[in-house]
Amino acid sequence: MILNLLTPNTMTQRRDELTNHDYDGIQEYDNDLPPWWVFLFYLTFVFALIYLLNYHVFQTAPSQSQEYAMEMEAARVELAAYEASAAGQLPISFMEKETDLEAGKQIYSKNCVPCHGPDGGGTVGPNLTDQYYLHGNTAEDYFKVISNGVPEKGMIPWNNTLSRREILQVASYIQNRLHGTTPAQPKEPQGTLHDKSISMLSKKPKMNAN
Ligand code: HEC
Repeated sequence: MILNLLTPNTMTQRRDELTNHDYDGIQEYDNDLPPWWVFLFYLTFVFALIYLLNYHVFQTAPSQSQEYAMEMEAARVELAAYEASAAGQLPISFMEKETDLEAGKQIYSKNCVPCHGPDGGGTVGPNLTDQYYLHGNTAEDYFKVISNGVPEKGMIPWNNTLSRREILQVASYIQNRLHGTTPAQPKEPQGTLHDKSISMLSKKPKMNAN
């Protein structure tokens, strides 16, 4: 019904008149556009008007760029809150990224070589490449012994010198790169046997430590 109103009678009555041109034998009618099509066409006017008033004239709703800025700001606030909370600290788990392991290697050669040897074979400190551990082989165990040291046995506490991230990097370097290699002069095993499967099991589900 509404469609009929949109299409004046005078127009609908003109039917199937040919336009007076001919392109390579192709002729065409000069009929009116279908009413539903015309209706949609007018609808786009209405939509555009509402859109214009809403977003640009009265600004009752935020534009795309304002929305983007609002979301970014909300995310920034959320991230800051998260990083300030305990859960936002780097999780104690082994890192696997090449850059972290490389950083761990640098930390190791600068600080740990005198007592654990360049290849982890051990001198004053124990062999870090074998399956025997004095203090366990989970990420938590490494973190604890490197942070707090064992001063009475000659292992220095590193929590004043190295950051949380650096301790995790060097621990990951030991576990992922030194452990399981064969050093030139390995020190005799010390501590208890932990085979690799235990260390795999004790790995926490990975989170991206950035
Ligand atoms: C001054 C010597 C010394 C330095 C330097 C040193 N360590 Fe140690 N480390 C030791 C000694 C000694 C032990 C054995 C402690 C014990 O007997 O309980 C040890 C034990 C460890 C253990 C535990 C091994 C196990 O079998 O459970 C880890 C891991 C370790 N050190 C990592 C490091 C890292 C990483 C660094 C460098 C940031 C480092 N150490 C620097 C002397 C040292």
